Amino acid sequence: MSELGVTINLQRDTPELAHIYEQAGIVQFHHGKFLIGPLALKAGEHVLDIGTGTGRLAEFVAGLVGPQGRVIGIDPLESRTEIARLRQSKTLTFETGRAEDLSRFSDSQFDAVYLNSVFHWIEEKERALREIHRVLKPGGRLGLNVQDPSKLHESRVFLRTAISQAGLGDRHRETHPVFGVTQEQLKALFAAGGFVDYRSDMRSLVDVHSDADSQFKWSESNAFGNFLDGFSRSEREQVRIAFARLVEAKRTPEGIRLERYLRFAFARKPDGSLKEPKLPA
Ligand SMILES: C[S@@+](CC[C@H](N)C(=O)[O-])C[C@H]1O[C@@H](n2cnc3c(N)ncnc32)[C@H](O)[C@@H]1O
Repeated sequence: MSELGVTINLQRDTPELAHIYEQAGIVQFHHGKFLIGPLALKAGEHVLDIGTGTGRLAEFVAGLVGPQGRVIGIDPLESRTEIARLRQSKTLTFETGRAEDLSRFSDSQFDAVYLNSVFHWIEEKERALREIHRVLKPGGRLGLNVQDPSKLHESRVFLRTAISQAGLGDRHRETHPVFGVTQEQLKALFAAGGFVDYRSDMRSLVDVHSDADSQFKWSESNAFGNFLDGFSRSEREQVRIAFARLVEAKRTPEGIRLERYLRFAFARKPDGSLKEPKLPA
């Protein structure tokens, strides 16, 4: 286990999961727009999208910074950047890479950096924030959203119940931890990374799924093969059936409505002025 308990296997992704993500990831895109607004991007700015996935949000951001701007999306999963590259343009490019190693970029290269539904997956969060600080210009802005393990998504609560109902007891605790950081951890991480003007709020976001199986598939693609890690094929099937029964209770005329919760956090790199406010560590 690494810092804050995150160990994921990026080798489990498949081209099929990446394609499912590209179809279903529209929900993530809508949530991502809440991240982009407060960054107040301007025409001509240079922006880094870390954990860009299949690049839908990066394409939207490229539209905001216009023909004089520049957006680079990075992601460790080749299967995802391959799809993202179909969106490539003169001002929008995609590369394979991780948040913890931004050595391909110069100091003070970007006006803004954002991570949409990515930070909870990052193994070395402190290292990633130090790197982000380095590549931001003085005064550059950072925005991210992240799960809080103390505030479970509704789907996760149903999943835990489904695992118990399938007779698999407390297996989720050992094999399927909830990744993320609490408000206190996040604030401390931003301070350690050298950021100022930290502000954050927890938002409740609603996802609507046509049926339980599409929700299950979405979760699989979203976790790039790490969903229900450690469960055998037949155990997964038992969990899927129990989960489907449970979430049917959340059906509305639009579909199955499930809430999830993300903390949105913003800060900036100090611009070097004498009156700079400091974050308490
Ligand atoms: C839920 S997806 C979000 C994708 C995209 N940001 C979006 O809005 O659709 C999470 C992404 O984080 C990426 N990821 C996981 N670990 C990472 C790391 N250490 N550095 C950068 N990205 C990472 C995954 O490859 C995956 O594409």
